[in-house]
Amino acid sequence: MSPAAAEARRAALLDWFADRGRDLPWRRTRDPWAILVSELMLQQTQVPRVLPRFEAFLRRWPSPAACAAAPLADIVTAWAGLGYNRRAVNLHRCAQAVVDHHDGALPDDLAALLALPGIGPYTARAVLAFAFDRDDVGVLDTNAARVLARWEGRSLKPKEAQAAADAGVAPGAGWAWNQAMLDLGATRCRPRTPDCEDCPVRPWCAWGDAGRPSPDPSVGSAGVSGRQAAFEGSDRQGRGRLVDALRLGPVRAADVARVAGWPDDPERAGRVAASLVADGLAIADEVGTLRLPGTSRPHAS
Ligand code: ADE
Repeated sequence: MSPAAAEARRAALLDWFADRGRDLPWRRTRDPWAILVSELMLQQTQVPRVLPRFEAFLRRWPSPAACAAAPLADIVTAWAGLGYNRRAVNLHRCAQAVVDHHDGALPDDLAALLALPGIGPYTARAVLAFAFDRDDVGVLDTNAARVLARWEGRSLKPKEAQAAADAGVAPGAGWAWNQAMLDLGATRCRPRTPDCEDCPVRPWCAWGDAGRPSPDPSVGSAGVSGRQAAFEGSDRQGRGRLVDALRLGPVRAADVARVAGWPDDPERAGRVAASLVADGLAIADEVGTLRLPGTSRPHAS
């Protein structure tokens, strides 16, 4: 693509975003901690489910120091309804590392962010772009990755996709550009039903230009997730049931299979319970009673 065409595409996307971008609470702040909380919540969970949780979480834990000082059980409990509870453990560990190693403030440096627990390439770049308006990092979630593959008209390898994302950022507009890419992917350049008729960058998309031939280049391209595995009947469902129960109180070993939803498969339930312990989401005492970490044992009377 010529530099002039790339520039025209950038301008078209930024104009569209200024006009039609979604107004979301995490777009009204540049506080790095708030951005981190939002991005971890949004990583596997849809926007409507995150909306009511985001502000409530920040009211309660407005800083890494506040989060780090809280018992993990409280963070896991506040995560109810968001799913993928391991993210709550990661956020808590990250807050503690920020307090221990960065005076309680998230660093504005890619390597330093990547060194924090629970922060991967996506989240590190999201913090840089959305809190610090950095224009040298492209945020590559499944939406942005799909857009890039379609623009190129071919599936991208991991390094190519990240390089294309980083190089594509509009100079001086890191925040707006990266938010615009997420919105374009979420609302126009959708996985199975792209709305090319209402796409602001349709003239500069190789796949759209070619008449959307099969196969869709975004399928299998780096960073583009496939369909989620079925939740019903999955280990994840049993994990979720156990954590939901643990939010209310301890679960005795004898109750684990029933609580996980597999009364006839204690072996599977035990395996899943062990995975919660391994992930730091639960602790087991000497008789196998499970609790959320950071909750105290009832005192013997
Ligand atoms: N998904 C991940 N990050 C997002 C953001 N900043 N806005 C909307 N959806 C997102």
